[in-house]
Amino acid sequence: METKTAGNVKKSEGWFWRVSVTVIGALVIAAAVLTILGDFRSKAPKVHSRHGPVVQKYADALGIAMQFFDVQKSGKLVNNRISWRGDSGLTDGSEEGLDLSKGMYDAGDSMKFNFPMAFTATMLSWAILEYGDQMNAVKQLRPAQDSLKWITDYLINSHPSPDVLYIQVGDPDLDHKCWQRPESLSSQRPLTQVNTSFPGTEVAAETAAAMASASLVFKKINSTYSSSLLMHAEQLFAFADTYQGSYSVTVPSGQRFYNSSGYGDELLWAASWLYLASADRSYLSYVTVDHGQEFGNWRRPSWISWDDKLPGVQVLLSRIDFFGASEVPIAENLALQMYRETAEMMMCSLPPDSPTATSSRTESGLIWVTEWNSLLHPVGAAFLAILYSDYMLTSGTEALECSGRSYSPGELRDFVTSQVDYVLGENPMKLSYLVGFGENYPQYVHHRGSSIPVDATTGCRDGFKWLNSSAPNPNLAVGALVGGPFQNETYSDSRNNSMQGEPSTYNSGLIVGVLSGLVTSSPVAKSFL
Ligand SMILES: *[C@@H]1O[C@H](CO)[C@@H](O)[C@H](O)[C@H]1NC(C)=O
Ligand SMILES: *[C@@H]1O[C@H](CO)[C@@H](O)[C@H](O)[C@H]1NC(C)=O
Ligand SMILES: *[C@@H]1O[C@H](CO)[C@@H](O)[C@H](O)[C@H]1NC(C)=O
Ligand SMILES: *[C@@H]1O[C@H](CO)[C@@H](O)[C@H](O)[C@H]1NC(C)=O
Ligand SMILES: *[C@@H]1O[C@H](CO)[C@@H](O)[C@H](O)[C@H]1NC(C)=O
Ligand SMILES: *[C@@H]1O[C@H](CO)[C@@H](O)[C@H](O)[C@H]1NC(C)=O
Repeated sequence: METKTAGNVKKSEGWFWRVSVTVIGALVIAAAVLTILGDFRSKAPKVHSRHGPVVQKYADALGIAMQFFDVQKSGKLVNNRISWRGDSGLTDGSEEGLDLSKGMYDAGDSMKFNFPMAFTATMLSWAILEYGDQMNAVKQLRPAQDSLKWITDYLINSHPSPDVLYIQVGDPDLDHKCWQRPESLSSQRPLTQVNTSFPGTEVAAETAAAMASASLVFKKINSTYSSSLLMHAEQLFAFADTYQGSYSVTVPSGQRFYNSSGYGDELLWAASWLYLASADRSYLSYVTVDHGQEFGNWRRPSWISWDDKLPGVQVLLSRIDFFGASEVPIAENLALQMYRETAEMMMCSLPPDSPTATSSRTESGLIWVTEWNSLLHPVGAAFLAILYSDYMLTSGTEALECSGRSYSPGELRDFVTSQVDYVLGENPMKLSYLVGFGENYPQYVHHRGSSIPVDATTGCRDGFKWLNSSAPNPNLAVGALVGGPFQNETYSDSRNNSMQGEPSTYNSGLIVGVLSGLVTSSPVAKSFL
């Protein structure tokens, strides 16, 4: 494994080298993109790298959090930074003649679920687009781009024809019956697809959102790749919109894992990103005059999650309103106002002293909504709040009005740091929920690869002895953001406690986003370039 890795390092560096050689081409493309996107980013500053001093704590946390994507990678690893990981899933997709070897495992198992994986990619794209400079300042931009591409390469291969999308690799029942490292998988790896007879609108639309947002990320780096992503995104959106049906209904075997509560949010989410990526006004009409009322749930804020993208839509469309909606026609503009109003309601629910503060929080102030994977909501809300705070700051919006109390961008940012500081150890347990950060973090993470020694020769069932083992995990699941505390702020560090102790790639997408926004002390939201 060691020699293989060394060989691949060169290959990967070669890729970046070629990219930097084509920097002139990239500048030409950048200029073109500036022209295309100019209309709704006219108020955004043209400055490309302006940031204050680095806050070391958040920079360190970001460097750690980013590595969990490497922990989760499937396929033939390139430039592998995780000593205990190796190649896996190499024949995934082969039964249909596809290469589905890449992508990322979902959580503590060896499943690839496209619905949450695509959400991870969309969040990572958004983080790079807004905070690429900040990431670059602490040498995390390339790892972020690499991890994003590791997912989008897989998503491209999951979409072999316009109306067919593979949405899952592996059978969760078979997979969960084994406790094995992905490197030594012995269970069957069946594929699941959606198509015109069995559509899956939310998974197709989320994949379209991931690809459209990633096409913006790669526009400067590789225009061919970027155009290919945009083409897939457009096709997938058309498939999702034309053949409407929830994958939880058409493929009900998936209901126990990532059951979807509806697809209107993903259609709006995909169309919003497609508008930003293509500047095609029909996507703006889709989210505003055509379907805003139908799917937007205006004035009813919710929590962002792998299931509910509406809060993301509200903040993303607010961005257009903040930075140049003057060129948007009146009817469309009115709908954008509704999204922004809903985003404001959500933001007003976050600071603890707000007149409309949510009561969903722990005694010491962590947003707390669900027992399973409790950190999903506070970290997701914090990511949206740092974006919103930076949009306010950059657009010169002095205050967010919340029923008589107003908040400055800095005060909204204070809410964000309160959540992140809690996650990083300022909590009653004095425990960092980010594995590898600080002195005290979970040692018994619910994660197969982390819990089984690399040299153990275990099969499917006998691998459970490593689940049962009382020794701490032999391999550090570095960067894992575990599920999180109970409402009473306790955490039981026990390997079979998947409710609290199982990390996921989508948690990582969110924590990486919010940390990227915090690495420098003077945030500057910039253009999507
Ligand atoms: C369409 O998808 C369904 C659900 O996954 C699957 O059972 C069916 O075989 C697919 N149709 C074709 C023609 O492959
Ligand atoms: C750009 O992307 C295309 C399509 O994925 C790929 O074939 C090509 O090698 C890439 N170019 C560079 C310079 O990486
Ligand atoms: C999954 O979600 C659908 C609605 O989209 C609902 O009808 C169904 O009961 C849910 N299933 C489970 C197991 O929660
Ligand atoms: C692990 O523990 C469970 C429950 O105590 C037990 O049923 C199982 O046999 C154990 N498995 C192994 C491989 O030790
Ligand atoms: C905290 O809450 C959990 C889950 O509800 C419960 O099992 C545990 O006993 C509680 N711990 C304390 C100290 O109250
Ligand atoms: C782990 O937890 C699951 C469900 O909570 C349970 O079914 C299983 O028996 C537990 N395994 C061990 C080894 O304790």
